[in-house]
Amino acid sequence: MKTAWTPDSWRKFPVVQMPDYPDQEKLKTVEARLAGFPPLVFAGEARKLKKSLARVAEGRGFLLQGGDCAESFAEHSADNIRDFFRVFLQMAVVLTFAGKQPVVKVGRIAGQFAKPRSSPTEVIDGVEYPIYRGDIVNAPEATMEGRVPDPERQIMAYRQSAATMNLLRAFAQGGYANLENVHKWTLGFLKDSPAFEQYQDLADRISETLGFMRACGITAETAPQLRATDFYTSHEALLLGYEQALTRVDSTSGDWYATSGHMLWIGDRTRQPDHAHIEFCRGVKNPIGLKCGPTLKADELIRLIDLLNPQNEPGRLTLIARFGADKVEKHLPDLVRAVKREGRVVVWSCDPMHGNTIKSTSGYKTRPFDSILKEVRSFMAVHRAEGTHAGGIHVEMTGKDVTECTGGLRALRDEDLNDRYHTFCDPRLNAAQALELSFLVAEEIKKELALRPRLDDDAVEAAE
Ligand code: TRP
Ligand code: MN
Repeated sequence: MKTAWTPDSWRKFPVVQMPDYPDQEKLKTVEARLAGFPPLVFAGEARKLKKSLARVAEGRGFLLQGGDCAESFAEHSADNIRDFFRVFLQMAVVLTFAGKQPVVKVGRIAGQFAKPRSSPTEVIDGVEYPIYRGDIVNAPEATMEGRVPDPERQIMAYRQSAATMNLLRAFAQGGYANLENVHKWTLGFLKDSPAFEQYQDLADRISETLGFMRACGITAETAPQLRATDFYTSHEALLLGYEQALTRVDSTSGDWYATSGHMLWIGDRTRQPDHAHIEFCRGVKNPIGLKCGPTLKADELIRLIDLLNPQNEPGRLTLIARFGADKVEKHLPDLVRAVKREGRVVVWSCDPMHGNTIKSTSGYKTRPFDSILKEVRSFMAVHRAEGTHAGGIHVEMTGKDVTECTGGLRALRDEDLNDRYHTFCDPRLNAAQALELSFLVAEEIKKELALRPRLDDDAVEAAE
């Protein structure tokens, strides 16, 4: 029996992965303060994102979602945000061109601070510490004091998110996202990286297209669509007290929206149908993502879809498959078939990161680029076989030249991981690896397009 939903109704449900705050009074004070702070995003934006995702669900768009595994207080800088945004846009251009369909751009950013963990403690040099749960909860450094969950960190995370959001809005709308510039960065990158020659052809065709448009008088100066883009934010809705405090009624519709980010997702560890995270997410109207891992059975998935999207509203639900390169073919077809059989409208997206984490011989947590690529390819192949749309990818990436994932054309080796291993949580694709992945995914998208009867001109709609 479902009871009435309220922003705090989740509190009556069992919950996992939530920190134990020793100072409950302080927690209450912080949550009350947050509840009075301005929203980070507006309901109208979340609705617009939902509309774009609805188009993806219909097979007429592609979702690019990506960013840090976990944002950190220490690495909060304009340079980091800019570098991430730059590669992200470069990827988007490649994917837009290849698929001839709008790419919905959603960052794992401006709120991605809380992390689910597999164990509540960890042992470092013989000492057992409470586990690090993300900068919004406790400190990454292994000290007993630092690892105590501190509510005040939620205020810091909120303020950092606001500053990040502000810069991203300026970049997206203020000229930085100019299509011609973004493409020039890609050309520059290819020129400096001889190994990447194989992608020159696609890049040349984009240049040609831009040149043709320019000759016709369509340029960033004359066409606002070429100089601006819609960029959205997303994060895992893990820390429910924080999410509740930022949940507001939208005055135009009377509906509840989470205003901590445009899209929220539910992790594979917190998707129990009768638990708090599902309860919270079912009541907010934002687009919702649901991570789907190897333990998810088809009937449970349908039950979760019933809970999260009872009206079968297109764009509301994105299923983010994260099985691991060797498990996709085994698990995904059942889920895809069940969703199709039940007539549920969803976006299918592929997270090729989380099922492919290994411990390298050098001791680092890493992800081989080949496994990441293999998972995407298998995901796409399953959708081609089932006649469904492979709607997007969800990646952990950074704009920096880090050494966290092995492989790629620049062939990062195990031994290299030690050079610039900077992540606060999971290994991320560096800028070159992320861009390379987009070129490779572009080829897969073209395979799906080739299976379609004919590109119906009416079906081609532009992004904004
Ligand atoms: N406005 C379009 C879009 O967002 C085209 C565009 C402008 C674009 N700048 C971009 C696409 C940067 C990708 C990246 O799709
Ligand atoms: Mn991660």
